[in-house]
Amino acid sequence: MNKTELLALRKEAIPRGVFNLSDCIVESAKGAIIKDIDGNEWIDFSGGIGVLNAGHCHEKVVNAIKEQVDKLIHSCFHVSMYEGYIKLADKLNQITPGDFKKKTMLANSGAEAVDNAIKIARQFTGRPGILCFDNAFHGRTYMGMSLTSKVTPYKKGFGPLMNDIYRIPFPNAYRLSENNQAKANIIALNALKKTFKDTCDPETIAAIIYEPIQGEGGFIHADEAFYRELRQLTESYGILTIIDEIQTGFGRTGKMFASEYFNIDFDIIILAKSMASGMPISAITGKDKIMDASQIGGLGGTYGGNPLACAAALATIEVLEENLLDRANAIGEKIHATFKRFEKDSPYVGNVRGVGAMMAFELVEDKESKKPATDLTTKLASYCRENNLSMITAGTYSNVVRILVPFTVSDDILERGLDIIEKGLKKL
Ligand SMILES: Cc1ncc(COP(=O)(O)O)c(C=O)c1O
Repeated sequence: MNKTELLALRKEAIPRGVFNLSDCIVESAKGAIIKDIDGNEWIDFSGGIGVLNAGHCHEKVVNAIKEQVDKLIHSCFHVSMYEGYIKLADKLNQITPGDFKKKTMLANSGAEAVDNAIKIARQFTGRPGILCFDNAFHGRTYMGMSLTSKVTPYKKGFGPLMNDIYRIPFPNAYRLSENNQAKANIIALNALKKTFKDTCDPETIAAIIYEPIQGEGGFIHADEAFYRELRQLTESYGILTIIDEIQTGFGRTGKMFASEYFNIDFDIIILAKSMASGMPISAITGKDKIMDASQIGGLGGTYGGNPLACAAALATIEVLEENLLDRANAIGEKIHATFKRFEKDSPYVGNVRGVGAMMAFELVEDKESKKPATDLTTKLASYCRENNLSMITAGTYSNVVRILVPFTVSDDILERGLDIIEKGLKKL
């Protein structure tokens, strides 16, 4: 079928709520290049929303999947076990931060990891409440959606949502008039203390869940001091910490996990996206006693930790460990320097932020008012797509340009992609 026919059939066959950011129909992809069915090459700065840190179709990952596919596609781990699940759980217990004994369960998607982490935390503590931040994104299941901050499109009309969820402000320094992180931290911690006074009893809270760098929220992060004080305060009430590294994990920040960058002390960490280069899998890794709180049969699912996905994950982790973290840092430095130039040259680039290769800039109508420039961002994203650069936005006001380029991108392709963004900015 040609592109026109496929687009017409897509309209007939698939609901509009299943969104498409472009009309690109992919035929194949390698590294950081996507080829569409008309033979056009696209530079990929989206990585399938942060899934392709190790690149599209990395040879070692492809070979691992091919080797596995001839042996076993599915048995359901609960019915009969297989090596891949056990080896991957052990590997994740080893490579995730935290000097304590861990256990890991595997699931299929990021949102499913969120749901399971909350189930485990509630069961371990015997408490119902969950704390989360504004600007957060935790997925599209009922629990994920309830913990997510943005109403449209994620929550509008889908209620009733889950209860016993309390949202507190995230310390977004840029949104203060003086852009001061220490002050933002104090405001956020005071808001949490107030929540414990006027909204919920901290001793009914099972866990706080947060992203070390908010992904869909616009690549906003606090600093080590904030995360430390947050932990001290919540832990003093017996509240567990669940770190959502679904978007930040597997090298995006130049370290395997963003928690290492900020020295975050947690009880449970949840992982997905770039763990398996596109095979659907997620993980919930936590302190062994917490992970063992559930009764036998309380945790699981038909496909969780599918053999092909486990093989892809083990190969992806190997590839990342070999040499890709240094590359992530090098890419991040290049993107950061370029975005800083944009900030200097463009009246609309209000803030550049991120860690490692998780870089973004925020577009504002003017640098004084900092009013989010949603329309300009949409225009810039359209310009990029018209020029075959796959680039996605973020932020509650959809006014943040975020980069999730594969680390296997060549310097030349990286520069070509950044040039397209620069030309688009100049046209605004
Ligand atoms: C931080 C974070 N948590 C959870 C999710 C949900 O993951 P999934 O789309 O695999 O359900 C996402 C997806 O973008 C995410 O970025």
